[in-house]
Amino acid sequence: MQTLNKLNMHLGLEASKCLQFSKFLVMWRVVSTIVFFLVLVILSFLQNRGKEQVGSSKLEGVQANTTVCSEMRKNNCSWVPVLEEFTFIAKSAPFNNCHASTIVEVDKGHFLVAYFGGTVEGAPDVKIWIQTYKDGLWNPPVIADEEYNVSMWNPVLFKLTSNELLLFYRIGQDVQKWSGFMKRSDDGGITWKEREQLPPGILGPIKNKPILLANGDLVCGSSVESWNSWGAWIEITSDAGKSWKKYGPIYIENNPLSVIQPVPYLTANGALRVLLRSFTNISRICMSESEDGGHSWSFAKPTELPNPNSGIDGVKLRDGRLLVAYNTISRGVLKVAVSPDDGDSWQEVTTLEETEGMEFSYPAVIQASDDLVHITYTYNRTQIKHVVLNPI
Ligand SMILES: *[C@@H]1O[C@H](CO)[C@@H](O)[C@H](O)[C@H]1NC(C)=O
Ligand SMILES: *[C@@H]1O[C@H](CO)[C@@H](O)[C@H](O)[C@H]1NC(C)=O
Ligand SMILES: *[C@@H]1O[C@H](CO)[C@@H](O)[C@H](O)[C@H]1NC(C)=O
Ligand SMILES: *[C@@H]1O[C@H](CO)[C@@H](O)[C@H](O)[C@H]1NC(C)=O
Ligand SMILES: *[C@@H]1O[C@H](CO)[C@@H](O)[C@H](O)[C@H]1NC(C)=O
Repeated sequence: MQTLNKLNMHLGLEASKCLQFSKFLVMWRVVSTIVFFLVLVILSFLQNRGKEQVGSSKLEGVQANTTVCSEMRKNNCSWVPVLEEFTFIAKSAPFNNCHASTIVEVDKGHFLVAYFGGTVEGAPDVKIWIQTYKDGLWNPPVIADEEYNVSMWNPVLFKLTSNELLLFYRIGQDVQKWSGFMKRSDDGGITWKEREQLPPGILGPIKNKPILLANGDLVCGSSVESWNSWGAWIEITSDAGKSWKKYGPIYIENNPLSVIQPVPYLTANGALRVLLRSFTNISRICMSESEDGGHSWSFAKPTELPNPNSGIDGVKLRDGRLLVAYNTISRGVLKVAVSPDDGDSWQEVTTLEETEGMEFSYPAVIQASDDLVHITYTYNRTQIKHVVLNPI
């Protein structure tokens, strides 16, 4: 009996040990499974984060989100960016500093972005760089043009109806000394022909894309920034950059230090207008109008939109509204506003950036063939950011 009891006790002990051991095994399996999945989740998060930084967001993603957005139209999600990315990873480019981007759609889902980059704005090593966005990926920057010991400035891309691509830019030691140049591409930006110099006094589109009128006139917004003299000019070419005429100056009455960098657009009643960046003490986006195809222009007048002496850009949307991207109190705040009446009144629709002490400037704005709005801008002078909006 005793031995049996002993044996039973012994067995009981063994059983409880066994139970503890199997509990431990189950716990171990549960814990290791959880750890395994946690590691998987963290790994895939890191991988995705890396992808976002490289800017490899697929266009499918844009379209998926657009669909969601149009379903949620009533819920006011229209101005939430459908895509936000950098065109290259921080510190990965062969320059420290970049500024003044421009964007053009070559084909559906195929874009080119150009900007100037080098040691610092105005340094003799500043070149024009270009990047291709295709199949949802940004290719690394390549040199579009360079000049030994002379700085390059403000590229502007434009696609003609012939599919020829134009790349305008300026070369010179500083803003007062620069001259206008251009390059052409017949193969969607894969190769560029020799640099062409624009005629003396013709600077080409100085920051913002031109517009092409039905009569074939390419209307380019130009400007000068010389001592106590800031004003805009409209330069028109009817033969894709071979010959030029210029019209202006556009300035604020009795104020020779007034407006630069025009954004040209056609109004609903067929007049031409420009929005303009203004000098510090004016502090508003200004506007001027031409009733005769861009030959004579009214004095520029301030609109209700603020402007801290900083580059703007805008586009006339296919639905007739005018959209503009602009800085407000400083280059630390970048907003988008829309006008239903060609610039007479405005509604602020979204804030793209708001961080004092940083610089988000010189937006370039286009509407792509799928109606999405693409904006590129200087990100603290070290990167170019690309944001896509659905202008519902
Ligand atoms: C759609 O946009 C929202 C807001 O920016 C973002 O949180 C979401 O991840 C996007 N969805 C897709 C599928 O890209
Ligand atoms: C959408 O948002 C804007 C800005 O936030 C606001 O002014 C407007 O009233 C909103 N519209 C609707 C329909 O909620
Ligand atoms: C570079 O250009 C500056 C004038 O802009 C000139 O003074 C300097 O000598 C040039 N340097 C070289 C190495 O050519
Ligand atoms: C801005 O300054 C210029 C010259 O410094 C002056 O002529 C002009 O009247 C000023 N404009 C305003 C709006 O104060
Ligand atoms: C932005 O640029 C300024 C000026 O170069 C610099 O002081 C600041 O650290 C930068 N901020 C970020 C977040 O990179």
